Formats: sequence, C-alpha cells, structure tokens
Amino acid sequence: MSSPQIFIFVLISLTSITSCFSSNHHASTSTPTGFKSGILNKNSVRSPFHNQSLTRFDRIKNSVSLSFSRRDYLHSLLSKNASLNSIESSVWRADGEYVMKYYIGTPAVETYAILDTGSELNWIQCLPCERCYNQSKVPIYNPASSSSYNPLKCEAPRCWQMQYYKCTDNYEYCEYELQYMDTSMSKGVLSEETLQFVNGIENVTMNNIFFGCGHNNSFHNNNGEGIPGLIGLTTKPESLVSQLHYKKFAYCLGDFDDIDARGYAAFGDAAHITGGTTPLADSDLPYYFLNLEAISVENTILPIPKGTFTKTKDISSGFVIDSGSTYSIIRRSAFNILLDNLRQKPLYQNTVADPNDSFDLCFKSDAYNLKSAPVITLHFTGLSLQLPFQNTWEKINENIYCLAMLPSDGVSLLGNFQQQNYNVGHDLENRLVSFALMYCSD
Ligand SMILES: *[C@@H]1O[C@H](CO)[C@@H](O)[C@H](O)[C@H]1NC(C)=O
Ligand SMILES: *[C@@H]1O[C@H](CO)[C@@H](O)[C@H](O)[C@H]1NC(C)=O
Ligand SMILES: *[C@@H]1O[C@H](CO)[C@@H](O)[C@H](O)[C@H]1NC(C)=O
Ligand SMILES: *[C@@H]1O[C@H](CO)[C@@H](O)[C@H](O)[C@H]1NC(C)=O
Ligand SMILES: *[C@@H]1O[C@H](CO)[C@@H](O)[C@H](O)[C@H]1NC(C)=O
Ligand SMILES: *[C@@H]1O[C@H](CO)[C@@H](O)[C@H](O)[C@H]1NC(C)=O
Repeated sequence: MSSPQIFIFVLISLTSITSCFSSNHHASTSTPTGFKSGILNKNSVRSPFHNQSLTRFDRIKNSVSLSFSRRDYLHSLLSKNASLNSIESSVWRADGEYVMKYYIGTPAVETYAILDTGSELNWIQCLPCERCYNQSKVPIYNPASSSSYNPLKCEAPRCWQMQYYKCTDNYEYCEYELQYMDTSMSKGVLSEETLQFVNGIENVTMNNIFFGCGHNNSFHNNNGEGIPGLIGLTTKPESLVSQLHYKKFAYCLGDFDDIDARGYAAFGDAAHITGGTTPLADSDLPYYFLNLEAISVENTILPIPKGTFTKTKDISSGFVIDSGSTYSIIRRSAFNILLDNLRQKPLYQNTVADPNDSFDLCFKSDAYNLKSAPVITLHFTGLSLQLPFQNTWEKINENIYCLAMLPSDGVSLLGNFQQQNYNVGHDLENRLVSFALMYCSD
C-alpha cells in the first residue's frame, strides 16, 4: 500500500534539505533552490480574469491586437535603448496572456502577475491609490497591513543601484516611474517584501524581493480591468530570476484553444532544459534573441535572404522569443515569401478570406484534412523546430483555419501560439533556449 503521495512528500523534503545545505543563511531565510508553479492563460475558465461574455472571435481579435502592440512595445523598447537608462521608457505597455498566482506580504494575500520576458521590474498596484486601474478579482495589495513590507530609503544601495531610481527633494523613499507611450503607467515606491509561490502542493517563501509598489497606475485596455502586477523575466538584476540568482527557468503553455488548459513556470532547479537547444544570439541586451537562419515548408527551404532575422545594431530587425505576444510576428519580406509558397500548395484551392480580417491566409478544411497541411519548420542555429499543425493554424470556426502568424516591419517574435505544448527552457548560464514537445500539466 505504498502511496504515491508519500513518495512525493519525500522528494519535496529532500529538496528543502538540499536548499538548507546549499545556503549560507539560516534555514528560515534561505532561498529555495527552485520552484514550479502553475500558470494560466488569463482567458482560461480557471483564471479569475476569465470574461464569460468574450466570444472565441473576441479572444482571437484581442490576441491579434495584443501581438501587434507587443511588437511595437519591444520595437520601441529596443530601438530607444538610450532611454532605458532614464526613468521614463517611451514604450507601449503590452501585457502578456499568462498569469501566475502568488502570495504577497505577512500575513500573505493572494494575487496574480503577468509573466513577462520583456520587462525587468516586478511591480504591483498598492494602496493607498492615488490612481489605480480596476482589479475587481483580487484585492489591491495593502502594504500597511503587512509586517514584512520594507519601502527603500533613498540611501539604500538597492535604490541607487537600480536604473529606475529617483529621489526627489523632500522625498524620503526611492521612487520609480514607468511611463508607456499609450499613457499606461506605474509610479510608486521601490520596496522589498516577502513573496510566496505555489510549488505543487506546498508554498515556497522568498524574503526581501525587490519590487515596485505602484500607487499611481493606469492601464489603457478595452474595459479598464487589469492584472494586478507583473513579474519581470529579463536578465536585468531587478528581474525575479536575477534576484533569486536562478540560472534557468522554463515554462510550458497549455493548448491555446483549450480554455481549460494547464501549464507551468519553473525556476532554478525545478526548470528542465531538455530537447533541442539553440544559443541565445546576443548578450548586450537583457532580452532573449534567437538566430533564426531559415524557414522551410515541407522540405523546401524558402528563398529568404540570409540575415533577414539577424539582429542589427539599431534593432530594426532581430528575432526575439517572447512570453507576451500570442501569434508570431514575422518580418514582412519573409512573411510574403512564406505566403507565396503556401499558396502553391493543393490545400489552398480552398483559400477563403478571414471572416474577422485578422490573418492573411485562411482556408476551408476539416480537422482531419488539416493534418495533411504543409509543415512549417523554423531553422534556428543548431535546432530545427518543426511546428505541429496545432501550433501553425488557428481555428477560426468549424471549418476555417488561418496561418497564426502576422507580418512586421521591424523585430520578429516567436509568440505563445507557436510555443504551446513545448517545455521552453531558458538556460541563462549557458545562454541556450531549449524546446521539447510535451503535454503541459501543472
Ligand atoms: C543604442 O546604444 C548604443 C550604445 O550606447 C548606441 O551606439 C546606439 O546608437 C543606440 N541605438 C539607438 C537606436 O539609439
Ligand atoms: C499620476 O502620475 C501622473 C504622471 O506623473 C500625473 O500626471 C498624475 O497627476 C498622477 N495622478 C495622481 C492622482 O497623483
Ligand atoms: C500557501 O500560502 C497561502 C497564504 O499563506 C495559504 O493560504 C495557502 O493555503 C498555502 N498553501 C499551501 C499548500 O500551503
Ligand atoms: C467582458 O468583456 C465585455 C466585452 O468586451 C466587456 O464589455 C466587459 O466589460 C468585460 N467585463 C469585465 C469584467 O472585464
Ligand atoms: C471600474 O469598475 C467599476 C465597477 O465595475 C466601474 O463603474 C468603473 O467604470 C470602472 N472603471 C474603469 C476605469 O473602467
Ligand atoms: C468574426 O467572424 C464571425 C464569423 O463570420 C462573426 O460571427 C463574428 O461576429 C466576427 N467577429 C468579429 C469580432 O469581427
């Protein structure tokens, strides 16, 4: 009668013992060597942000517009690298689709954050609000009722070491201000707090996590309702992964069209770098650039000029793997070559216009025939990623499928749709990204 639960418990105990040994600090303040937490698409029926009145068409439309704003966000972020050293970043705010539950403060209060490989600073809406956007699903975090809240004074090294640092006259605390081009913003006090993450069946506690406590926040979206905060996953020192000194993280995004799908994000020892790997392309920016060398359809390499996706000095091109855009965004010259090739395939006898005018190439098919649709392969340095059909075609309705990619005049992005059902690993030490097809359960 040996129960699997006991086995799991033993494993977890060993992990916590290991983390005690590997730390110089007292057991109570040691950082766990890793954790794995469930993540949700914000539209999932199990997400508190699920909106019942949104139809499938609305969700696709929203994801298309999110993908385009994400392209603009990253493009302006990257091309205005000078302003990264100032307090104001003239970029668009474009939230991702995936949220993670965690607890903040003492006593701990449940909240959610967007996981963002395109942001550095972790932040959350904080009381008292000079101005906050609506977050009706979970209460706004109140630092006054947390015994572990620590706002940073101006002289704290952690304040002046950070690029967002600002101390105005007569102001005791370290301020940050993130300004986005679409007039979204977050402004408040740089602080430290205890966070707890849900690690399978237990919680892991992290003390003194550096974050922005936002007292003046605005967010321009369709209905004024926003996610309480954001967790930054770039390689900058203020991101969550860097603060915890984790050398790797991984995520698995559940099936995009299954609104009940589960997924996970794993950090440190809990993250697995498995499957094929490709090196990160760049080390002077804190984002995740990949070398996309070629694209093929079936077994034919498309005649896309070499260097089309190479990161240029002014970042007018480059290929970023992103947690925030839904559909991949492909540089227009290459995108057109891809479309021209697909249009020659037999399936495209049945080409139709996208009823919602979002995608450039759609065709009539049933789910069975879709399996014979041409296979697209992305050739990264050292890794050919052959996209499964469900990562290639978005089902618009019962018998219309569209190529789930969009054109760009600037940076190209590998979106969530193309990453679904993969364990995507980020090995920060060896500067690799890995892909292994997987059923993502949390
Ligand atoms: C980005 O920064 C580098 C180094 O500071 C500079 O040479 C380059 O011109 C900058 N690019 C833009 C678009 O500002
Ligand atoms: C919030 O910050 C903006 C930008 O700094 C400022 O214009 C506005 O007055 C602030 N709102 C409140 C209520 O403090
Ligand atoms: C995790 O922490 C929260 C807040 O303290 C608590 O409500 C929850 O029950 C904890 N979960 C587990 C599995 O310990
Ligand atoms: C849900 O979506 C509808 C349609 O876009 C919108 O009018 C409504 O405000 C949304 N509800 C919430 C709670 O966000
Ligand atoms: C926030 O929600 C309340 C109640 O649902 C609503 O009356 C108000 O208009 C919303 N505010 C914004 C900025 O959308
Ligand atoms: C998308 O197309 C479908 C099918 O023609 C239609 O019912 C729906 O209203 C359209 N939605 C939007 C947002 O355009």
